[in-house]
Amino acid sequence: MGWIVVISFGPGAGEYITDVAKQKVQNCDVIVGSKMQLEVIKPLSNQEVFEETDIERILQFIDKNHHKQVGVLVTGDAGLYSLAQRIIDRFGKEAVKEIVPGVSSLQVAFARLKESWLNVRVFSYHGRTIRGLEKILNHHKVAILCDREHNSKIVLQKLKEHGLFKKPRRIYVCQELTLPEEKIFEVFSEEDIEKIIPQRREIIIIIHGQGGQYDTD
Ligand SMILES: C[S@@+](CC[C@H](N)C(=O)[O-])C[C@H]1O[C@@H](n2cnc3c(N)ncnc32)[C@H](O)[C@@H]1O
Repeated sequence: MGWIVVISFGPGAGEYITDVAKQKVQNCDVIVGSKMQLEVIKPLSNQEVFEETDIERILQFIDKNHHKQVGVLVTGDAGLYSLAQRIIDRFGKEAVKEIVPGVSSLQVAFARLKESWLNVRVFSYHGRTIRGLEKILNHHKVAILCDREHNSKIVLQKLKEHGLFKKPRRIYVCQELTLPEEKIFEVFSEEDIEKIIPQRREIIIIIHGQGGQYDTD
């Protein structure tokens, strides 16, 4: 029986954390998460809390605590470019007692744009080198996860060199979703790219064509 419970904790705001995720937290002996995630929970007196975002240190902590039930809080949903994958790679599926699903930042981005995320192709430059940009523009609907270094401004500047504005496309930047600083805007030109003020949490959405319809196929 596994000792790790991976708990999807939504994109940021407390109201996007499911009730079941909060219940699962209560059943853990130790809980690992970021400062923002841990601020939302009220640990019981017998629970130990470990604030950490460094992946290697989290994995070491999980390893050291294999005699306890360890709850690992992950951003958004555990199924999308998540620490959950690293945990399974390191310890195997049998070490994971349960993965609790949650609301992904991707779902929120598409909901805000009133667009379906059917057939979306997701790319991530979160903690990864920017490569394969030429492939991105071949897809009808794309979501790009960014990070502080590989932020929306840098990724869009590079995509511009690959012909971003050569075909009709709707380009959106979704920043700090669900949080008080949430900002979503459309990018129409090179000048718009230059004006972007990158944020810590950002997703770029690119959709071919003019739009206006809810895409169901
Ligand atoms: C390691 S990935 C994890 C994605 C997560 N599993 C999910 O389902 O949202 C982290 C990236 O997700 C995106 N992200 C997470 N939370 C976000 C938010 N509140 N607003 C915008 N983007 C967010 C950003 O691109 C961030 O760099």
